[in-house]
Amino acid sequence: MTQPTGGFGETGPGSGAAALATINDDHVVAAYARWAPIYDWSFGAFTRAPCRAAVAEMNRLPPGRVLEIGVGTGISLPLYDRKHRVTGIDLSRDMLERAKKRVAEERLSHVEGLEVMDASALTFPDAAFDAAMAMFVITVVPDPDTVLAEIARVVRPGGRVILVSHFSVESGPRAFVEKHLSRYSSRLGWRPNFPIETVLGRRELKLIDRRAVKSFDLFTMLTFERI
Ligand SMILES: C[S@@+](CC[C@H](N)C(=O)[O-])C[C@H]1O[C@@H](n2cnc3c(N)ncnc32)[C@H](O)[C@@H]1O
Repeated sequence: MTQPTGGFGETGPGSGAAALATINDDHVVAAYARWAPIYDWSFGAFTRAPCRAAVAEMNRLPPGRVLEIGVGTGISLPLYDRKHRVTGIDLSRDMLERAKKRVAEERLSHVEGLEVMDASALTFPDAAFDAAMAMFVITVVPDPDTVLAEIARVVRPGGRVILVSHFSVESGPRAFVEKHLSRYSSRLGWRPNFPIETVLGRRELKLIDRRAVKSFDLFTMLTFERI
């Protein structure tokens, strides 16, 4: 799914804090081709603690099929309990190549598959998974609403969906920085200015837990039950 190409610093339709910066698939693929060689020791190192917290939450669930959306270089994959069977998808071939290398080198036999796939057009059947994970992804995807609908579609009723992300604040110095940085969203490959309301309020995803996770309390983990 490719949206019309947004220029550097564009914002999407709407105005004020709720207007999301435009990112399209080409921006994502280009940005993560640049990120891939340095990801694990840059952003990936910074997000290691929230990643551990989210996978620990997933590991508390009974054995099941887990879909990891935007699996990236696969930093999380060794952390999953071997009782789970994990499938990862990502739009970036460059990021996914690194995940594949990791799976081979570390012999991660619980990883069932890694595929280049657009999270807004998943090729899996309805209710194919017991749970889905999306870490630092929902603020990155071109169309967050469609991605949430797709995640809900492929998780069975009663299953779990865990999102971890940075969500923007309304006021104070952090809000100033986020709004300023958002003009660089297409280059960064993520949206610094992304209100949490964007992911709440879907009828089929009931929020059951919300908590701050380190680093520096910049990140939030949301757990939903698929209704
Ligand atoms: C910030 S990285 C996070 C990677 C991984 N979840 C982690 O925590 O290390 C965001 C990832 O989302 C992927 N992504 C962005 N848009 C996507 C889409 N529409 N479908 C699938 N993956 C996407 C990017 O390619 C990138 O690998």
